[in-house]
Amino acid sequence: MTIGIVGLGYVGLPLAVAFAEAGQRVVGVDTNAGRVNQLRAGDSYIEDIPSERLQAVASRIEATTRTSRLALCDAIIIAVPTPLTANREPELGPLVGASQAVADALQAGQLVVLESTTYPGTTRERVLPILEETGLKAGRDFHLAFSPERVDPGNEVHHLGNTPKIIGGLTPACRDRAEALYGLVCEQVVPVSSPEVAEMAKLLENIFRSVNIALVNELARLADRMDFDIREVIDAAATKPFGFMRFDPGPGMGGHCLPVDPFYLSWKARELDFATEFIELAGKVNQSQPYFCVEQAERALNLQGKAVNGAKIAVLGVAYKPGVGDIRESPALKILDRLQTLGAEIAYHDPFVPELKAYRLQHTELEQALDGADLALIVTAHPGIDHDHIAATVPTVDFRGVTRRERAAARPPATDLPVPRVNQPEPMEVAA
Ligand SMILES: NC(=O)c1ccc[n+]([C@@H]2O[C@H](COP(=O)([O-])OP(=O)(O)OC[C@H]3O[C@@H](n4cnc5c(N)ncnc54)[C@H](O)[C@@H]3O)[C@@H](O)[C@H]2O)c1
Repeated sequence: MTIGIVGLGYVGLPLAVAFAEAGQRVVGVDTNAGRVNQLRAGDSYIEDIPSERLQAVASRIEATTRTSRLALCDAIIIAVPTPLTANREPELGPLVGASQAVADALQAGQLVVLESTTYPGTTRERVLPILEETGLKAGRDFHLAFSPERVDPGNEVHHLGNTPKIIGGLTPACRDRAEALYGLVCEQVVPVSSPEVAEMAKLLENIFRSVNIALVNELARLADRMDFDIREVIDAAATKPFGFMRFDPGPGMGGHCLPVDPFYLSWKARELDFATEFIELAGKVNQSQPYFCVEQAERALNLQGKAVNGAKIAVLGVAYKPGVGDIRESPALKILDRLQTLGAEIAYHDPFVPELKAYRLQHTELEQALDGADLALIVTAHPGIDHDHIAATVPTVDFRGVTRRERAAARPPATDLPVPRVNQPEPMEVAA
């Protein structure tokens, strides 16, 4: 088969490589000529796809900006961004542009699958009419389906191959075609009755995470005020073998998905005169979490008799999660921005993010970032960094709890401990 992939980013490139590794030919189309040139040179820009892996299948992947090449394909997958506008409404420009490009190349017998995360109804209401403007009819002349991507960048256990793939076809025949396509690269496919069910399933997954993260973030703020360790509470609750799922507090929510996707559903719900209150509340709590982090930084400096203004602060990890260089919606940016506005002198260390142009900052070696620092902030705990050493050297606020286990292990045996008192806790987040 020849498989076209429109959009070669975090979702599209792993798909392209997986199909090529399964022996299929791939035509990868992207509007970003720089990315296309990099791929042609065998140079991967996605951490989960090492360049060697890309080079091993290079002969089966044609990277191009020419959408007319899609006419050669048996199946075409659309994996373009679905961001929000400045007013936090769905920005469907890339999706509509990609659908138009597919329509311009559409051939009878082709299968088209949308993978971009979006509100229920997008495949039927937005993509289908553009494709049918060609005069070809879905379900008869070509097939159309929605299959949400569940890629988790940096996850070394779950990947495209071993993560079940949900598929909703416009018709049963559309679904069967899509099942056969993904069966080439996925161990398990999960057919559902319609594109809308598949679209909504993806949003449910993301909203579930967003709401639960907001819940622990809010409880972390309360625990901070009550002076006890929320992570100890979570550890205790997580011993329940049923009916509880662990979520940990952090500096806020980042990435291209969780801070964005739920609002696609809120927008759609408003059209139906329906308010999605859990989504709005979770968004509000998670978006304000970085300000709580700034407050913690202020307090940690205050303990030393220092102000933010003029303080040297080392920010460790600016990507939104460990092991990746993605800074989209990263809470680190809000923290950094606020601290800079308050007059702090910021150095950041993140081997995955060479520079932050908007803040006129560049990645600094760890020793250099910590040299003379009044405070270190562990915002994203990348692997391979000795955070305990940092916390032992420089006053540190650990938003991820990574230095906590070691301090707990260093405590005297339980029999020697006084009875814990809520108002006299061991400081949790601030490790000096
Ligand atoms: N990144 C993730 O972890 C993840 C996980 C699941 C789902 N998703 C969803 O998948 C979709 C793609 O996300 P991503 O993270 O891969 O985005 P990305 O920004 O990493 O990649 C998208 C690519 O599409 C290209 N592009 C934009 N408009 C185009 C067009 N009209 N024609 C061709 N190429 C175009 C861009 O140049 C870019 O290279 C989004 O809807 C996202 O919500 C992402």
